[in-house]
Amino acid sequence: VNVKLVHKPAYHFQPKKHWINDPNGPMFYKGYYHLFYQYNPQGAVWGNIVWAHSVSKDLINWLALETAISPSKPFDKYGCWSGSATILPGNKPIILYTGIVSPEPESTQVQNYAVPANYSDPFLREWIKPDNNPLVTAHSENSSAFRDPTTAWFDGGHWKMLVGSRRKHRGMAYLYRSRDFMNWAKSPHPLHSKANTGMWECPDFYPVAQESTKGLDTSERGENIKHVLKVSLDETRYEYYTIGTYDRVKDRYVPDNTSVDGWAGLRYDYGNFYASKTFFDPLKNRRILWGWANESDTRDDDVKKGWAGVQLIPRTVLLDPSGRQLIQWPIEELEQLRGARVQMGKQKINEGDHVEVKGITAAQADVDATFSFESLDKAESFDPKWMNLDAQDVCNLMGSTVIGGLGPFGLLTLASEKLEEYTPVFFRIFKTQEKHKVLMCSDAKRSSLAKGLYMPSFAGYVDVDLTDNKISLRSLIDNSVVESFGARGKTCISSRVYPTLAISKNAHLFVFNNGTEPITVDSLDAWSMNPPSKMN
Ligand code: FRU
Repeated sequence: VNVKLVHKPAYHFQPKKHWINDPNGPMFYKGYYHLFYQYNPQGAVWGNIVWAHSVSKDLINWLALETAISPSKPFDKYGCWSGSATILPGNKPIILYTGIVSPEPESTQVQNYAVPANYSDPFLREWIKPDNNPLVTAHSENSSAFRDPTTAWFDGGHWKMLVGSRRKHRGMAYLYRSRDFMNWAKSPHPLHSKANTGMWECPDFYPVAQESTKGLDTSERGENIKHVLKVSLDETRYEYYTIGTYDRVKDRYVPDNTSVDGWAGLRYDYGNFYASKTFFDPLKNRRILWGWANESDTRDDDVKKGWAGVQLIPRTVLLDPSGRQLIQWPIEELEQLRGARVQMGKQKINEGDHVEVKGITAAQADVDATFSFESLDKAESFDPKWMNLDAQDVCNLMGSTVIGGLGPFGLLTLASEKLEEYTPVFFRIFKTQEKHKVLMCSDAKRSSLAKGLYMPSFAGYVDVDLTDNKISLRSLIDNSVVESFGARGKTCISSRVYPTLAISKNAHLFVFNNGTEPITVDSLDAWSMNPPSKMN
């Protein structure tokens, strides 16, 4: 077994080697998608950060280009950290990024810009950092916690953008305005802030349509539009978002009363997913979300492997018709990688059964299943004590082997033949006083016999109407990635796991049910996934 390669994802975005973190400046320009990302050109641990750059025609097959932005000037001497791209009128991309101007531990942060050396090059290979940088420096702000400028939006008179920060322990999204993109003034009040949430990294702010499945340009205004504000919480390493109303005259953002504003709020992903960023794709009129999944093995393992970090599959983002949450789904372009396909006919899964899905490469697969059941009567009661726990704790208590009523049922991914190792992705349906509560888990607890790994029981609730007695689950399995979408993208959970037995040809995939109520697999399609080729 090649320890360096056995867990390396085959169809997720990754450079050949070394460390990666945040996706940066995603955009579409002259027929190509661009992805920049935080990269250490010297090793598999965080440090020496530059903006690496790749281009693609379809967000799946990529061509790696030269480094786009790296430390070279006083305004970014100690690092080129995260940032975003904005397309200025005349189809002129511009990048805003954070430059580090003093060494650790201060790591003083300023906001810089960079522009293409040659707009006629669709690859935008070369970037210039003009001498009037930095554009924004900290004054009363905490200069060691002042970073990750967003894509800017235009309100007719001004460009506006956010910078993530904290004031003591209050998370802040500072708002800056400019008429010419060069001279920026801080707005008298932040766009939004929240006590006791710590540093807000990588803010993202964008409109979503209420009555359409079209994505919107970041500057879009008009009727039937809501806004989304997402922040990455440095302290918990989780992201959360709210849906709300943006008043562009007062520059105020107010989350809806259905959107919890704080730790208990909604998340894009209830697993390993961080520092994400969206962009508007004018080619297909959609908004696309990129997120980074860190490793959950040890730093020593990363050094041995020679690589660390992966970008998850880009997702289209839409407002759910309920208006209460977003819906995410892997971009349709992923389907071109589907190879051999197997289908499971309608099949009943009784309590304690697990049925193998044979005929695909289970270590690299795309699985899409719909489960149904006769009624909700057998759902077990939700213990009121669990109200005070988060979903992850409930999943930890009520795992895939704890017999329930309606569920646990779902998939056993990256399973060894005799189930010494497996990562279950499953639902468990509870009864509460008023209605039902659906828990979705991606539980790494038994994912590997190896020692020293982080193996959390990731989980979230699914706000789904079960009146048709059905629920769907899609999982993208890629050697050490299990990226799952419950109820067609209402709840998403990504896990990183490192099996010792369930690797390559020895990985298996099963459907299981450990609830007393039988479950029917209404349909199940599974495909072996081919690796992408170089961009063609
Ligand atoms: C988030 C982050 C950003 C920062 C970058 C540095 O993962 O800490 O806040 O700009 O990574 O690599």
